[in-house]
Amino acid sequence: MTSAVANGATDAPRAKRARLEDEDSDEDSDEAAVSPATMSKVEDFLLPFQLSREKLREVSSKLRKDLIRGLGKHTHRRAPVKMLPTFVRDTPDGTETGDFLALDLGGTNFRVLHVRVEENLQKVLKMDSQECAIPQEMMQGPGEELFDHIAACVAEFLESIELKDKVLPLGFTFSFPCEQKDIDMSILIRWTKGFACSGVEGQNVVQLLREAIKRRGDYDIGSVAMVNDTVGTMMNCGYQDQSCEIGMIIGTGTNACYMEEMRNVKRVEGDEGRMCINTEWGGFGDDGSLRDVQTEFDVEVDRTSINPGVHTFEKMISGMYLGEVARLVLIEMAKKNLLFGGETSEALLTPDSFETRFISEIEEEDTGLEHAQQILTEDLGLPAGPEDCEIVRLVCDTLSTRSARLCGAALVTIANRIRNNRGLTHLTTTVGVDGTVYTKHPHYSDRLEETVKALAPKCNIKFMVTDDGSGKGAAMVTAVAQRLAIHSKLLEDSDGDEEDEDE
Ligand code: BGC
Repeated sequence: MTSAVANGATDAPRAKRARLEDEDSDEDSDEAAVSPATMSKVEDFLLPFQLSREKLREVSSKLRKDLIRGLGKHTHRRAPVKMLPTFVRDTPDGTETGDFLALDLGGTNFRVLHVRVEENLQKVLKMDSQECAIPQEMMQGPGEELFDHIAACVAEFLESIELKDKVLPLGFTFSFPCEQKDIDMSILIRWTKGFACSGVEGQNVVQLLREAIKRRGDYDIGSVAMVNDTVGTMMNCGYQDQSCEIGMIIGTGTNACYMEEMRNVKRVEGDEGRMCINTEWGGFGDDGSLRDVQTEFDVEVDRTSINPGVHTFEKMISGMYLGEVARLVLIEMAKKNLLFGGETSEALLTPDSFETRFISEIEEEDTGLEHAQQILTEDLGLPAGPEDCEIVRLVCDTLSTRSARLCGAALVTIANRIRNNRGLTHLTTTVGVDGTVYTKHPHYSDRLEETVKALAPKCNIKFMVTDDGSGKGAAMVTAVAQRLAIHSKLLEDSDGDEEDEDE
């Protein structure tokens, strides 16, 4: 591989780590072990990953146009950012209550939870939960097997908590792009994050679940609400902070949802009120619009993934891919004699051997360099000295900073959209956040917030990390849907009364 592709970001400063223009640059003093000549070559090499404020503004403005395309009645079909209506029409008002089952599928594990929403406590309580691993073969095998496995896991759980005879309403967090026809009808558009089960794309996921439960015949479920993890996160956070109108995930995958005005949701009838839109921003760039930001390493990660050409933005940002981008960068730097005395190792040459969690560990404030030494020598069998450790730390810093900045730029686009929708000069809002990249990395949240502040001076955004949005949030969506259903039933009944009186 040759050195990185020109990305139009060469206006970025040549700094030791990717800085926004007006940041102080005196914090990283730990490059001492690296000679100035080597450091200068390393910085040159990493330059394509640095995104200037101007570049980030461009990214944000491209996304703004894509949000509009995704919402349009006709333009949405070919839009890379899908902007999926979720049929979630309200955030919690704090009066929700009840017992629910919540299912969560979106990564390598499947979870089932028994959740109680307590109005008095203003809390969503996780009563019990169980996790079931999804074996790698099952992630890419027949869909029926996946759903049978899920149904079996739920059966085992209900049995263990002695609720098999109770029919509970269910919130299903299914964290893949789905075209929702209603809150309980959700057609999978395509798998992401390493899943590729046959016979599921284009199908109604609720029906597949119900069929699997029917095949067993030993328990039943009540009404179902389908939930994306971003929506669960927003709703869970919204129970405590009613100004939470955005949900964001930066974990294995990345995505965000927000409350959009119904008048702009052209695909769903009605102009009144709001609806939560699952943006599926991971697909941003799938039409080639981010080519000037992608490096050759991003292109390579995409090419060798199980879904080339799909979720371009996600592949530059999220946990499933960050480590792999880093691995390719390290190999190329070794080949250019910038690392490990020009050597590589069998482990380093093995796909996915550089795990994303290594990035967080290597960037730890005090212990990072020690971690680097251990990971490079023990896990990856590389001849790494102190200089290598510092350079690898800079690579990690550069990639995680780029990820945080790209997410920040995308979040700014959404916040500004809400602000404009409401004709506000200034917006104060809360974002519910979850995902291991955001929560586990030592500096990620700071860098993201710093980007948001720099790019969106008219928005005052508070970040709230939610505790288990995918589990508790699913119950919250179900609870709000029930509240709205009861409310509209009451309205219908009272309409009926009025007619009776007229007669
Ligand atoms: C999926 C989204 C999900 C995100 C975070 C993406 O790959 O397409 O639906 O919200 O990952 O889990």
